[in-house]
Amino acid sequence: MSLNVLDTMGRSMRDLRISVTDRCNFRCPYCMPAEIFGEAYEFLPREEILTFEEITRLTGLFAEFGVAKARITGGEPLLRTDLPQLISQIAAVEGITDVTLTTNGYLLAQQAQGLKDSGLHRITVSLDSIDDEVFKQMNGRGFGARRVLHAIQRAAEVGLTPVKINAVVQRGVNDHTIVDLARHFKGTGHIVRFIEYMDVGNRNGWKLDEVVSADEIIARIDAEMPLEPAPGNYHGEVAERYLYRDGSGEIGVIASVTRPFCGACTRLRLSTDGQIFTCLFATRGTSLRDPLRDGATDDELRNLIAGIWTRRADRYSEERAAATPEMPRPVKVEMYQIGG
Ligand code: GTP
Ligand code: 5AD
Ligand code: SF4
Ligand code: SF4
Repeated sequence: MSLNVLDTMGRSMRDLRISVTDRCNFRCPYCMPAEIFGEAYEFLPREEILTFEEITRLTGLFAEFGVAKARITGGEPLLRTDLPQLISQIAAVEGITDVTLTTNGYLLAQQAQGLKDSGLHRITVSLDSIDDEVFKQMNGRGFGARRVLHAIQRAAEVGLTPVKINAVVQRGVNDHTIVDLARHFKGTGHIVRFIEYMDVGNRNGWKLDEVVSADEIIARIDAEMPLEPAPGNYHGEVAERYLYRDGSGEIGVIASVTRPFCGACTRLRLSTDGQIFTCLFATRGTSLRDPLRDGATDDELRNLIAGIWTRRADRYSEERAAATPEMPRPVKVEMYQIGG
């Protein structure tokens, strides 16, 4: 059954991002700055968090609307107890053909096989630099890169492929290490994607001059390892692909600041506490948990979901590109609540 609904810009619902915890073992300054997220910070209490059954039921409803890809995110999703159990439930939902997960990799090596066995298809690991000093600063916890590199290898060994590696690029922080990162993975089959630093949430003190444009990233890598553009894999793909001219693999850039891709945005996000967000930069979500726990029927939930989607008019990145510095900045949801 497909209940295809279009939003106000004619976009369908295809990709679901499910945040399974708001906690994280890293403190990346651009996401969860340690001075704000200290020992006393109150994360969501257990009863606020969706159960596996609730997540699976909602995923089933979204699949009826055409969602085919489910991405598990956090916070750091590998901190959620019994995650493989949830993955097997999601992988069994009719219509879901691609189940993947975004992790910081710290706990991945020991969990990789269990994740694969539960039905996870592939994985994306965030790694902003392979330079230990830079990485230590960027994860806010002083962790070196070796453990994450080992986890990436384990993930590939157990078949969670293609492994993708996400690197946020921040001028003056890690931009001098992007060529080394690309070189490290060239020829391995893993796909590094460089992400323009975004103004997600309200706490990272984002400034436009810290953004390194995708064009500059590509130019810097191309100067040492020649690249050529490649066609996209699917409609709405956020990364633009580039192949190494010597045939040794590909990289991607996610140019959400300099080349916004809202026009093809088919993503919806389910937060840890069961709210639906129709944009990464949304100012508010709509709770599906409350009606669900109040005993809503599937039909009532379908109506709610259809209503949220048909009213959707989000195009934040395009609006940011058109905004002037004097315009007020909205109060937005934080990255760790919806997992990017
Ligand atoms: P594939 O399924 O492998 O193509 O990955 P994906 O496109 O789902 O990529 P992933 O979840 O790894 O996203 C990479 C990064 O791109 C995210 O972590 C965000 O930083 C950014 N991103 C993803 N979706 C959006 C979006 O809808 N809007 C904006 N502005 N950025 C996004
Ligand atoms: N800009 C760009 N990417 C970000 N991420 C987290 N915060 C930002 C930001 N402000 C990335 C993480 C991870 C993914 C979930 O989103 O590094 O790869
Ligand atoms: Fe954790 Fe990812 Fe946020 Fe870093 S970006 S603090 S790893 S959730
Ligand atoms: Fe989609 Fe919002 Fe990102 Fe635009 S800014 S691509 S609408 S999530």
